[in-house]
Amino acid sequence: MKIIFFSTQPYDKIFFNKYNTGYGFELEYFETHLGPHIVNAIDKADAVCVFVNDRVIAEVIKVLAESGVKIIALRCAGFNNVDLETAKQYGLRVCRVPAYSPQAVAEHALAMILTLNRKTHKAYNRVREQNFSLNGLLGFNLHGKTVGVVGTGNIGKAFCNIMIGIGCNVLAFDIVKDEKLVKAGVKYASLKEVFIQSDIISLHCPLNDTTKHLINESSIGTMKKGVMIINTSRGKLINTEDVIDALKSRHIGYLGIDVYEQEEKLFFKDLSASIIEDDVIQRLMSFPNVLVTAHQAFFTEEALSQIAIKTLQNIQQLLTGTTVQNDPAIMI
Ligand code: NAI
Repeated sequence: MKIIFFSTQPYDKIFFNKYNTGYGFELEYFETHLGPHIVNAIDKADAVCVFVNDRVIAEVIKVLAESGVKIIALRCAGFNNVDLETAKQYGLRVCRVPAYSPQAVAEHALAMILTLNRKTHKAYNRVREQNFSLNGLLGFNLHGKTVGVVGTGNIGKAFCNIMIGIGCNVLAFDIVKDEKLVKAGVKYASLKEVFIQSDIISLHCPLNDTTKHLINESSIGTMKKGVMIINTSRGKLINTEDVIDALKSRHIGYLGIDVYEQEEKLFFKDLSASIIEDDVIQRLMSFPNVLVTAHQAFFTEEALSQIAIKTLQNIQQLLTGTTVQNDPAIMI
């Protein structure tokens, strides 16, 4: 049984090779992302294994099906980059890793909040230059602040619990209420109220037609002046141009993003010797109160182990017809 990997990084090979010893699949790794430019090169594979920026669009799925591929295995939680309808139409099975370490992403969201607030990235550089002045490093106590959480699934839940531990008031919006979180002290409110009342807003909902550009000129207009926005979910939840305008007008006080609308051209690559043609990200990175990380929120040992273990298990179960009913890992 052969699995072809796309968007492969060196760390993917380490973890998948390690956990494949129990399965003995033939693994082939491509560094390029999956898209119309490469799909014709696939030869005799049972499954393709893809990541967040692979473009598993109808045109690609059709060729995959014709070449005999039976499974599209996402080694991530989000599946907005796969055309599920077309996959179903061509009889392809699709699986994902629904929760590989929600704590990894939740903890990264906290790291972004603390960095933006207490400016540890600036302090680090400053003391190395023997500048021990505190001017410009003033932060605020998180304790007692209102943190708005949009999406209280696996990651949002872990994030709520962290922020409760810090002593924040946690206000959440989700289409499904989590009673355990309510017992832990989380208050659910409408999305509008979450936007109006929060000092910090952290996005943990999936990207879909209703959540695309959730953060836009009009929603920002309802938020507190100086609000901090954190996005570790998907880039398109934010209208980047509108956010830039709100940073310029000082309405948004801090922005932390681990994901970006146009990230597929940039993230996971070393472009340090290249000319970046994306003026939007360059403008974003020019603000002193913006922190950009390159989709690294998931990037812990525990998460990479879980991703490899669960992806290989999903493929094995789909190939042998031993999937469990209602398993959230099996999309179709
Ligand atoms: P999940 O499926 O456990 O939770 C998503 C939650 O969002 C659910 O409770 C769902 O009811 C809620 N939701 C759906 N539509 C909504 C809406 N319109 N408004 C508010 N809430 C809504 O997913 P999980 O594991 O918590 O992941 C959340 C997102 O985080 C993923 O969709 C993915 O895009 C992103 N992610 C980012 C990573 C990174 O490294 N930056 C790593 C893993 C996931």
